[in-house]
Amino acid sequence: VIIVKRNVALLGGTGTIGQRFVKILEDHPFFDLTLIVGSRKKAGKEYGRAVHWLLGSEVPGYVKNLKIEEFKASLSEEKDIDLIFSALLADVAEKYEGILRTQGFAVFSNSGAYRMNNDVPILVPEVNPEHIKLADFQRERYGGYITTNPNCSTYGLAMILKPLEKYGIKRVFVSTYQAISGAGYPGVSGVDINGNLIPCIGNEEDKIRRETKKILGEYRKGKIRAWEIDILASCVRVPVRDGHLESVIMEMEENTEIREIKETLRSFKPLADLPSAPSRPIIIREEDDRPQPILDAYTREKDRAGGMSVVAGRLNISDRYLRLFLLVHNTIRGGAGNAILNAEYALKKDYV
Ligand SMILES: NC(=O)c1ccc[n+]([C@@H]2O[C@H](COP(=O)([O-])OP(=O)(O)OC[C@H]3O[C@@H](n4cnc5c(N)ncnc54)[C@H](OP(=O)(O)O)[C@@H]3O)[C@@H](O)[C@H]2O)c1
Repeated sequence: VIIVKRNVALLGGTGTIGQRFVKILEDHPFFDLTLIVGSRKKAGKEYGRAVHWLLGSEVPGYVKNLKIEEFKASLSEEKDIDLIFSALLADVAEKYEGILRTQGFAVFSNSGAYRMNNDVPILVPEVNPEHIKLADFQRERYGGYITTNPNCSTYGLAMILKPLEKYGIKRVFVSTYQAISGAGYPGVSGVDINGNLIPCIGNEEDKIRRETKKILGEYRKGKIRAWEIDILASCVRVPVRDGHLESVIMEMEENTEIREIKETLRSFKPLADLPSAPSRPIIIREEDDRPQPILDAYTREKDRAGGMSVVAGRLNISDRYLRLFLLVHNTIRGGAGNAILNAEYALKKDYV
């Protein structure tokens, strides 16, 4: 099969998530990153000079000399852009992504600006692929469409809950231990976080609840009926660079053999082959002290898919309470990687 590569633009390419996009899009088989849009203060500068690069010693060569552009309404004409990735902060995203949608673009966004809109999917292709159909309704109304990523902690929880749904979940409690990179750059002050824990992350607890209920909700005729099971979240910022750890406790209808639960999670692979799809979206560790951010955040199942899986461990069940820890890479699968997988999926389903 010959794939014609699509030209893509990246909004907010200098930020924490933007840099992940740049890294993952290097040599991507479907997408050519040809335009990076930044804030006014960086516009006109070469990417390699303007960015405070965080992901290794070198800015990737293919973008080093690319000039950052300011947002313009005529994006499409200049570089023949086919689709847009957005790593903008919510307030700017609301404006720019909205404009691009009305120009007929498909926008794959990380920001929270449109996540809870009724006609916008929060897409995790392994969990709720049918939600992409909401794009049809947006296209009718605006010409283009926006799909969003979940908040960085939400995706891991949704991925685990989906295959476990069949055992009868009554309620979910989740406590998160979230890395500093989740707050963007420069993010949390070193003075506040060094040797410390901060038991407050914006309105993250509410986001986890609402977004998970939407992702696991049932799609029917252009509407999503939220998942009925309730989720209670507590979120803590911890002095870790990358990787959110989550302690999950599920009240179940009955006790199921833990071996069967592990096997169900291990064999969960609902998505056909796409370049960024991990061969195993859920990886189970058997050691008593895993998963850990430093050891497991980048777990790699194939070339492009490092950091795209959820790593779970410490699974046990007693008295109908199923307990486990899970780990997600917050800027890869919890950010840029999921948006890129969404775009690959959209392309495959003729939505681009
Ligand atoms: N960090 C995570 O783990 C994570 C995970 C999931 C989702 N998200 C979401 O992803 C988005 C980006 O987060 P981040 O952590 O990457 O934030 P960040 O590090 O603060 O980066 C923000 C980016 O937005 C750009 N920007 C700001 N104002 C702009 C303007 N007026 N015009 C054009 N560009 C502008 C910045 O450009 P300059 O460099 O020029 O200022 C920078 O590239 C947010 O919506 C966030 O909620 C983050």
